Amino acid sequence: MKKLTITRPDDWHLHVRTGAILKTVMPHTARQFARAIIMPNLKPPVTTVAQALSYREEILQAVPVGLNFTPLMTLYLTGSTSASEISKAAECEHVQAFKLYPAGATTHSDAGISDIKAAYPLLAALEKHDMPLLIHGEVTDEACDIFDREQVFVDTTLTDISRNFPELRIVVEHVTTAEAVQFVQSAGARIAATITPQHLMFNRNALLAGGIRPHHYCLPIIKREHHRQALVAAATSGHPKFFLGTDSAPHPTSLKEAACGCAGCYSAHAALELYAEVFERADALDKLEGFASFHGADFYRLPRNLDAVTLVKTPWKVPGAYSEHSLSITPLKANEELAWQIQQ
Ligand code: NCD
Ligand code: ZN
Repeated sequence: MKKLTITRPDDWHLHVRTGAILKTVMPHTARQFARAIIMPNLKPPVTTVAQALSYREEILQAVPVGLNFTPLMTLYLTGSTSASEISKAAECEHVQAFKLYPAGATTHSDAGISDIKAAYPLLAALEKHDMPLLIHGEVTDEACDIFDREQVFVDTTLTDISRNFPELRIVVEHVTTAEAVQFVQSAGARIAATITPQHLMFNRNALLAGGIRPHHYCLPIIKREHHRQALVAAATSGHPKFFLGTDSAPHPTSLKEAACGCAGCYSAHAALELYAEVFERADALDKLEGFASFHGADFYRLPRNLDAVTLVKTPWKVPGAYSEHSLSITPLKANEELAWQIQQ
């Protein structure tokens, strides 16, 4: 196949930050996606509807003129989130969900939840208002090996949440293991998952073998090959529970290439192109549209997009860095060739 036209996709898990980073990355996302679920892990976190609305305005300012892009806002769940903020969010058309970060699990998660059981009254309020809960599914126990943290979270915390809140809609964000895929598959229709391009493309050798590659370091960390294969099978299965969420997480190159580098891969420059390579390799390009353009919208009960994008098989070289607004961001596959590109 040389050309593929699909309904315009949405990105159901995206970090765009603020200021200079926002200005650099927003055009990349808006060029391909109609909408994106915007992660609230700013410093300080986006915890109120008022903050989400002002962040939304800042994002819209960074969208290039002529592109139609709608940011779908989320609020950061903390131990001090109030029931009234949850009902306010449920009534706000611009706020779609709450995000649960176990405290300390990832970048800017220190304001997250340290005792999930103590947050159960908040989860009950989300369930009552039919507000989706987006979960970073990793335990933060320092004694737990970093490669096991998702699986342990699934076995302990996630199973318990799902049992206690049978009506709560949950997205298990950026699943990385066969166990998480299995959990989502066997749960009811109200539980879904996003999958990133890096977890579909790479196993942990791409991070650690033959030299340490900081631009492949993200959380949850990239796992073994059999997990990658389980993720590809889920993404290309056509199952409506699995949908596109890049988790594109820009950091300045200097903070990634450091003795203690930040977690997060930047993929918004070529998101759909990266997924297209994975789907083509799995001989499943016919399943890309469902994964990228239908399943997420259906889960969030939003209309599917009406316009389309066309991918053409014309190789191009990813730049070594995006250096604008006095900042440099190293993208995934920097200096490498990609097979597909979006027709402008
Ligand atoms: C994300 C970030 O940088 O905000 N990093 C990452 O490695 N994925 C946070 C997150 O989604 O965990
Ligand atoms: Zn993320």
